[in-house]
Order: sequence, then C-alpha cells, then structure tokens
Amino acid sequence: MALRNIRLEGDEALSVVCKPVTKMTDHMQELIDDMFDTMYENNGVGLAAPQVGVLKRIVVIDVTGEDPMVLINPRIVESSGEQTGYEGCLSVPGKSGVVTRPYYVKALALDRNMQEITVEGTELLARCICHELDHLDGIMYTTKTEGPLVDNSELLDDAD
Ligand code: NI
Repeated sequence: MALRNIRLEGDEALSVVCKPVTKMTDHMQELIDDMFDTMYENNGVGLAAPQVGVLKRIVVIDVTGEDPMVLINPRIVESSGEQTGYEGCLSVPGKSGVVTRPYYVKALALDRNMQEITVEGTELLARCICHELDHLDGIMYTTKTEGPLVDNSELLDDAD
C-alpha cells in the first residue's frame, strides 16, 4: 500500500479546475489504489485527485466502508431536496463546518475501466458526491459553510 501526501487548504492544487481523463493508464490505476489507501488510512469517506496533487477529474468515495467507488469525469445530472449538516475534509484536518447540500443526487461518471456508471445517493453519499466533485473544480467546502468551523473534538463530545 502506498500513501500519498494530502494537500492542505491553501495549497494551489486545491483551487484548480482539473482536467478530464481521456485514457486509463497503469499509472492512473496505481493512483486510484493509492487514493483509496490514503482515504482509509485517514478515516475519510471521500478523496479527490487534486487533494494528492494530481489535477485530474478522479474521485474515490466509500461512505460505508464497504462500498468503494471510483468516479472519473463525474457530473451531477439530477439533484433534489436539501440537507444541512456538518461536513469535513481531509485537506482541513480536525475541523468541520455546516454546509447545505442537496438531499439526493444522481451522477454520471466512468469507473476505473472507463465504463459508464450511474451513481445515486441520499444523505451522506449525496453530500460526499457534491463535496468531492467541488474539489475537481477547485472549490473548498469552507467557501460554503454557514457559521464558523468547529473542532471535531467539540462534535465528538456530544456523541460520547
Ligand atoms: Ni474534501
């Protein structure tokens, strides 16, 4: 397993509109494996390629720990409803902020074999798809928060 360095907020890579993938390569398969390793190692539920410094339209998501998905050149084609809640980002470690997102989204993308796939999700998956796709356009969730960022430890106090 190979971990990649996660770029932190303020890094130039996080404010770039990333390029579409036109062809799958061994190099890119390795990148995708590394992105999963890096995401799981850091207890994340999603990671976008620019967060590891690769300016391509690739994201990995796994909100349950048992449902890994790769979305290449993803785009949201349908969304509905609204949810307001805390979200965080591996590029802003230890913090969370309140963001309003659609309750439901449907996205079209390519999988790691460059086959077309449709992904639908509600709640956390919908939030995660929106958050990761924003990264591909250089948009950080911190530009969409309502109110201040809080330390995750404050949120965990309630849970315990
Ligand atoms: Ni993020």
